[in-house]
Amino acid sequence: MSRTTGNRINLSDGVSEPTTRTPQRETRNPEPGTRSRRAFVKNLWPALGAIVSLEFLWMTFSFLSPTKKADVKNISQLRTVGDLKNIPNNSVTPVRSGQFYLVRLNDGGLLALSLKCSHLGCSVSWDESKNRFICPCHASEFAMNGNVINPPAPRALDYFPIIIDQGVVKVDTSKPMKRKEFEKSQETYA
Ligand code: FES
Repeated sequence: MSRTTGNRINLSDGVSEPTTRTPQRETRNPEPGTRSRRAFVKNLWPALGAIVSLEFLWMTFSFLSPTKKADVKNISQLRTVGDLKNIPNNSVTPVRSGQFYLVRLNDGGLLALSLKCSHLGCSVSWDESKNRFICPCHASEFAMNGNVINPPAPRALDYFPIIIDQGVVKVDTSKPMKRKEFEKSQETYA
């Protein structure tokens, strides 16, 4: 006679087999090479995680670094005027985007004069017929080299450093320089 509880009946020979099997526990010991590979992989993930975290921190720090902003500011304030050979002696060239006049004096020396009046900061205009700068606010007048001709302006117009790079004139508008009056050492030559 065959039993049916918890067992599957083998009709061919009447012998029943268990319907569920308990998984056999693997008793084999891994080989030494397999063990070291597993240990390597186990340690690899934390190491990769640390590298990714450090890279993220470095990118965040670089993005927030103030020196980058300073570099951008300096680059954006260096104005290119043009080839020196195209700027004649005894000429005044307005560079409105840079807020200055590029002056080339009779001896070939260059001056980049701020267009802000040294009195209260109004914008001066170049008057070709009078050969001088005139302030519309309180009628101060300045010579081509920036010296005061008529007050109330208390001192000469400010000037900016000039760089001549391979024949091209550039002006650094980040550094206006104050002065009492014009001196020859303020001119830039090629
Ligand atoms: Fe130029 Fe007063 S602001 S004279």
